[in-house]
Amino acid sequence: PGSFDPVTNGHLDIIERASYLFDEVVVVVLINENKQGLFSIEQRIDLIRNATTRLKNVSVDSYSGLLVDYCSQNNAQAIAKGLRAVSDFDYELQMAQMNGNLTGVDTVFIPTAPDYTFIASSLVKEVARHGGDVAGLVPPNVLAALDTAFGH
Ligand code: PNS
Repeated sequence: PGSFDPVTNGHLDIIERASYLFDEVVVVVLINENKQGLFSIEQRIDLIRNATTRLKNVSVDSYSGLLVDYCSQNNAQAIAKGLRAVSDFDYELQMAQMNGNLTGVDTVFIPTAPDYTFIASSLVKEVARHGGDVAGLVPPNVLAALDTAFGH
């Protein structure tokens, strides 16, 4: 689960490794009514779909509401999350414990590969907005979408 505004190579690394660990992986774009993103939910889904076509047990969906409700409705066995650094850990642990408390669903943390530790969608957008080079941080389809979004 995530915002994926937009998906980065860090996300894709976690999605790929999750696809080896689990029989089936659903990437869920959570809709946050209070947060206006750069890309629409449909665009985010398309970008993830196009970047994961070779991963046959990965699908993409979106949801508005509690993640645990999506998990219950779709019989998900676990929530998989990437952890970049200690700074991610506090909030991720809190969410994992809250989600576990709500329905008993468990969370599996996958450590980010060192090459991707510094990547965040927010920073990618900031750099791209000002014309900085984000090739290598995002897949080619996202690079093209960022160029279009920022008129480069
Ligand atoms: O990519 P992000 O923005 O770090 O992802 C955060 C996300 C979307 C996974 C988290 O905010 C979430 O689970 N939202 C759904 C609403 C929900 O279940 N909130 C309670 C979390 S304990």
